[in-house]
Amino acid sequence: MTNQFTDQTTAEEVADVLSNNIRGKTVLITGATIGGIGCESARVICKNHPKLVILACRKQESVQEAMDKIKAEFPNAPLRGLILDLASLKSVRKAAKEVNSYREPIDVLINNAGIMAPPYFKTEDGFEGQFGVNHLGPFEFTNLIMGRILASNTGAPRIVNVSSSVHWLCPIRYDDPGFSDGKVYNNFHAYGQSKTANILFSKELSRRYKDQGLLAFSLHPGGVQTNLLRHFDIAQVLKDGVTDWKGNAFDLTAVKWKSLEAGSATHIVAAFDPTIVDQNGSYLEDAQVHNELARPDALDEENAIKLWNFSEQLLHGKVRGITKKRSMNWAKSSLNFSQPKMNPIVAFFSFKKKV
Ligand SMILES: NC(=O)c1ccc[n+]([C@@H]2O[C@H](COP(=O)([O-])OP(=O)(O)OC[C@H]3O[C@@H](n4cnc5c(N)ncnc54)[C@H](OP(=O)(O)O)[C@@H]3O)[C@@H](O)[C@H]2O)c1
Repeated sequence: MTNQFTDQTTAEEVADVLSNNIRGKTVLITGATIGGIGCESARVICKNHPKLVILACRKQESVQEAMDKIKAEFPNAPLRGLILDLASLKSVRKAAKEVNSYREPIDVLINNAGIMAPPYFKTEDGFEGQFGVNHLGPFEFTNLIMGRILASNTGAPRIVNVSSSVHWLCPIRYDDPGFSDGKVYNNFHAYGQSKTANILFSKELSRRYKDQGLLAFSLHPGGVQTNLLRHFDIAQVLKDGVTDWKGNAFDLTAVKWKSLEAGSATHIVAAFDPTIVDQNGSYLEDAQVHNELARPDALDEENAIKLWNFSEQLLHGKVRGITKKRSMNWAKSSLNFSQPKMNPIVAFFSFKKKV
């Protein structure tokens, strides 16, 4: 154990201890809609005298509602809104341009926004929805604002990518990330793939930018009843059971539910805890570093480089810095589905599968 926090510690309790590490920082958090883990994390951060908290949501009304809620409790909270739709690269690039025009460097970026197991849809740019919103959008956004993150002068800047224990359901399907144009689409496996990507992205960020002082972590917040569960009937899914990409069943009785307050604690640890700085690139659960709880390929260095290059290829048709151009059509076509196939399996709970 690297700190005194437990699975029941609330975000507010963590922040009380880490208050000096929050004070004076500029934090950008995506997916800050009221009722979610992002908004609760932002609220707790605002209690501890940050320099600025940027709330990024896809809708203006969500930004305003979150701001109003936080301001009702902390009238002087230094808040700024940002419109960011991760299902649209145009929106991602517009938001990044706005951030790059800020006077303040970004000390902490929390890529929290996400969707879970919706019926099949494509992002504006034609990517399978969950891979697009949960990984490719944040990947592009983060890279575009990297200059403002590395410009941080409050100590090591941090990037936190919010994953899930459900990453266990599916590794990166390099040869078929789009589930054979939807013919074999499984909404929970697609979620698992995207959440595996969050861990690998953090791992590679930590390797690429460690010499420039960047810290990057991924985490599982715990099972929290939020709007994330809107796309499926949870009772039915629990009844049906869950299997991973190999067809192995998981033990549904191992669900570990948390309150919103406790489910936001690991965000605060990953973003501010000084006791984890020597574990750059790690995966956290229950407010602690728990690399042994991640699937080994999700923390594998070569796999992390592979996903980085794969993502560049999908987004730009080439790996940045490499001149040999390859068509991105192969990649896009493999991410396009035509027929949604709902086969829900439960995946949002905190099962612990031993490595
Ligand atoms: N809750 C859990 O049990 C659990 C477990 C493991 C991991 N997680 C992870 O925790 C994170 C936060 O989830 P949550 O439980 O707080 O869910 P939530 O309340 O549904 O919050 C998700 C946030 O992401 C935003 N979002 C969705 N699509 C977006 C898009 N295209 N562009 C920009 N923002 C978008 C949502 O905006 P709208 O309000 O506009 O939809 C919302 O603000 C997610 O990454 C999730 O995968 C949650």
